Amino acid sequence: MSCMLARNACSPGGSTVFSQPWRGGRVLTQTATPALCSVHSSQQPVMAVRRETSKLWETRAPLSPQHVKKLVQKGVKVIVQPSDRRVYSTEEYADVGAVIKEDMSEASLIMGVKTMSADSLMRDKTYAFFSHTIKGKADYMPLLDAILEKNIRLIDYEKMVDEYGQRLVAFGKYAGMSGMINILHGMGLRLLALGHRTPFMFIGPSHNYQHTEMARQAVRDAGYQIALGRMSKSIGPLTFVITGSGNVSQGAQEILNELPHEYIEPEDLPKVAAGGSKNKIYACVVSRDDHYVPKNGGTFNADEYERYPERYASTFSHNIAPYASCIINGMYWAPGSPHLITIPDAKKLLRPTDYAPRTPSSPGCPTLPHRLLAICDVSSDPGGAFEFVKECTSIEKPFSLYDAEQNVNKESFSGDGVLICSIDNMPAQIPREATDFFGSLLLPYISEMLKSDAKQPFQDYSCSPVVKNAVIASNGSLTPDYEYIQDLRRKSA
Ligand SMILES: NC(=O)c1ccc[n+]([C@@H]2O[C@H](COP(=O)([O-])OP(=O)(O)OC[C@H]3O[C@@H](n4cnc5c(N)ncnc54)[C@H](O)[C@@H]3O)[C@@H](O)[C@H]2O)c1
Repeated sequence: MSCMLARNACSPGGSTVFSQPWRGGRVLTQTATPALCSVHSSQQPVMAVRRETSKLWETRAPLSPQHVKKLVQKGVKVIVQPSDRRVYSTEEYADVGAVIKEDMSEASLIMGVKTMSADSLMRDKTYAFFSHTIKGKADYMPLLDAILEKNIRLIDYEKMVDEYGQRLVAFGKYAGMSGMINILHGMGLRLLALGHRTPFMFIGPSHNYQHTEMARQAVRDAGYQIALGRMSKSIGPLTFVITGSGNVSQGAQEILNELPHEYIEPEDLPKVAAGGSKNKIYACVVSRDDHYVPKNGGTFNADEYERYPERYASTFSHNIAPYASCIINGMYWAPGSPHLITIPDAKKLLRPTDYAPRTPSSPGCPTLPHRLLAICDVSSDPGGAFEFVKECTSIEKPFSLYDAEQNVNKESFSGDGVLICSIDNMPAQIPREATDFFGSLLLPYISEMLKSDAKQPFQDYSCSPVVKNAVIASNGSLTPDYEYIQDLRRKSA
């Protein structure tokens, strides 16, 4: 079969016109090499959706059956590895024309969501997944080495961004929603351990809900109780600080908005924490310019910060954190950036003296030991924004309690400390909606990814900057934009 994937013309000069009917018939003009034209005009494009193997709860897929159906209709052969754990059944993919088989060797492009074992990587293929290699973290370096050794071209969804650096293919919204639901559930359990039955106890962990609408309803029910004044008086006004303004932050806000709420500016936090209403919660979105300050004076400059994060200090632990009941971290953290809360900062923030109770404490109605009750580190970067978050939690064991005095994490809701939720595959808890959402964002780029031939030089790969700039490795080397990973590795070694 000829290449039917949106191929309308292939000019002698190598300029190819691709139409993408699923994007409303929009036509993109791109330059392709003559060699690429001949490869694709004579062969049916073949891609594969691999089975996720990274974690027990990882039931997402990069594409739903509806997305696969569109590709099949365009002439793409889509191999799907069978899986009884995937949120969409194997039969649903078969019904839309996918070829169900274990062997993916026929495919030039293999897509997944999360990482896989280095052994399972196939030589000379283009892979697309979240590789987590871009921060040079030791855990992911054996995978990167195997990618280089096996001449794999790696496209990392995390680096598919527009000209403003905005991510285009991301699960972040569902990570934010899931993280927010989880931390509300966790606060219910933590507050119970501290002596308070609260409306948060009506909210379950996000994987308990088949659809986010059910979770929203549970949050609304809790909100109704809060609005009726059913929170213990000794808990005081609750303030939720959300860092970042991207996908994660917006997803978290969507859930928080189901509670009776008021958005406030960071400078209003002290006033609200001291004397705000207890019949609603306060939400405060904190951006980088609210707390990153140049060490040498002046104001925050995003370009400078992104290039030289070490030139900045954060005032977060002094100006924001002391007034937060719960922090939801949706900010990207780059190596070299200042921590938002260091280990010594945490020790100070979690001292009982730092929280001034407005109501007298009694054995049955205790005041809180300190204001900061919970942190949901959706960015999920151990040793990153929060220096003391040493490892991610998991869907099976979502919470730990960080005791700042002892500098230890324990698996408990009782005792001293702040509750931490730092699950690194948050959206896996809402797998169906997350797959539908992500696949719709990814689908428009698949024709370009299918043009990739890992055996050809990277410079000859003709595609949009969105895809090309997301290629981390090709032809046995890191691509120029990602050579810094080698420096990070050297430094950490
Ligand atoms: N735990 C999970 O399951 C999960 C899932 C999705 C995303 N994430 C992580 O959450 C974080 C946010 O994801 P998102 O989709 O909201 O991203 P996004 O690009 O939409 O938003 C990123 C936010 O971080 C800020 N930021 C701070 N420093 C930055 C820098 N050096 N470069 C770029 N942005 C910077 C931006 O201003 C923005 O507010 C990322 O670290 C991402 O890897 C985690």
